[in-house]
Amino acid sequence: MATVKKTAGASAKKDSPSKKASQPIGLVRGMRDILPSEQMYWRMIYDKASALCDAYGLERIETPVLEDTALFVRGVGKQTDIVEKEMYSFQTSGGDNVSLRPEGTAGICRAYIHHGMVSLPQPVKLWYWGPFFRHERPQSGRYRQFYQFGCELLGEEDAVIDAQLVLMSWLLLKELGIEATVKINSIGTAECRANYRNALVAYFRPKRSRMSEDDKKRLLKNPLRLLDSKDPVIQEMTAEAPQIVDWLDEASKNHFMRVLEYLDEVGVPYQLDPFLVRGLDYYTNTVFELFDSSNEDSEHGQNAYGGGGRYDGLVELLGGQHTPAAGFAMGIERIVSKLKSMNVTADKKRVDVFVAQLGEQGRKRALAIFEELRLAGINSSESFAKSSIKSQMEAANRLGARWTLIVGQKEVLDGTVIIRDMEAGTQEIVDGRKVVHEIQKKMQQQDEVKGSN
Ligand code: HAM
Repeated sequence: MATVKKTAGASAKKDSPSKKASQPIGLVRGMRDILPSEQMYWRMIYDKASALCDAYGLERIETPVLEDTALFVRGVGKQTDIVEKEMYSFQTSGGDNVSLRPEGTAGICRAYIHHGMVSLPQPVKLWYWGPFFRHERPQSGRYRQFYQFGCELLGEEDAVIDAQLVLMSWLLLKELGIEATVKINSIGTAECRANYRNALVAYFRPKRSRMSEDDKKRLLKNPLRLLDSKDPVIQEMTAEAPQIVDWLDEASKNHFMRVLEYLDEVGVPYQLDPFLVRGLDYYTNTVFELFDSSNEDSEHGQNAYGGGGRYDGLVELLGGQHTPAAGFAMGIERIVSKLKSMNVTADKKRVDVFVAQLGEQGRKRALAIFEELRLAGINSSESFAKSSIKSQMEAANRLGARWTLIVGQKEVLDGTVIIRDMEAGTQEIVDGRKVVHEIQKKMQQQDEVKGSN
């Protein structure tokens, strides 16, 4: 656990009053704003993700951003990088040890136990979307606050669940136009892993003198982590290292074969990666990650779009009954960055009507008309703060409005509104009380013309 040492709200440094007044306050390192220009990508991904979850019968769940630190120490693993180095942990003024969630699976299992979901029909199928926090070294695609979309299916051990989850994560990207490579492996049961661990230690120990201090520590505490080391020296050693597949028991091998057969059946392309182990301790059997197919340099854990796997022991480890389960999570920022690089554009909101006004009375009436249009479900726009009719007409043109309503002093007195057809350049005067109806009629006529063409 790293960072926050003090009680929430306590600030270590005090700025002088003059500094406070004169200097803009910057972003906290590793955090980022999601500006309006990026929102269309977020919405696009969210809409696809929620439609996919609806189709596969998953229900939305939200768990708190703040959890008991023990949940992650026990669930994710004391010796993982996430828990050892990356958590935002602190003690509250009430003396509770809490952490900003670094991932979602442990919280979902806590909720499953807390709400007695074991008594619901199994599997319980849940999905979530929200912010997560890891105090990592910020770099491209790696932030200290990032968003995940995740799916967790609890209470079923069949291999078909693993395959469905791989399919869903791959489909989300495919439907967004992103070609992803699925890398998949099995890390077996805790027992298989213990035997494999011994074999790895025996393999790497004679090579210790060429390892960094960090990797020596890994060899001692968590030798599987050496397998996805970024250090070229370790990578070279790993090429010849024993592979976990040779340590899998019959049941684990069988499970893995079935997952692969289901993936073949639904046409999800995958690559077997004998050294994919993932950085969280709760996994059993299937593990997988999704990478950019067009980027051959992408390595385990580096800018993966997402990852997941089976975690049959986690619910029990957190105090519940034995509950086999599996899931995955996708990193939204990484998907957004890919969509941007592909120059994907979303459909612009269509503006049917622009409401223009002249004079104070005209503006008041225009405000009310705009509200009538909104209630009738007509896409409308305005620039009420502008008083020049010229600049309002320019705005209407820029937005591609089909019709502009004009309400000036005279129209207010007469109880009328001018409707300007922006394509034909013609104008007509209509009864102000019937203006919404008139627009609806015109929209219908336009649809009929389009339909007959
Ligand atoms: P994870 O591989 O640690 O798995 O994270 C999933 C995805 O979140 C990553 O593939 C990446 O796209 C994104 N991500 C992680 N850290 C960062 C970061 N610092 N900045 C930007 N994006 C990031 C889990 O979290 C597991 N809970 C997944 C899971 C669900 N396994 C079973 N169920």
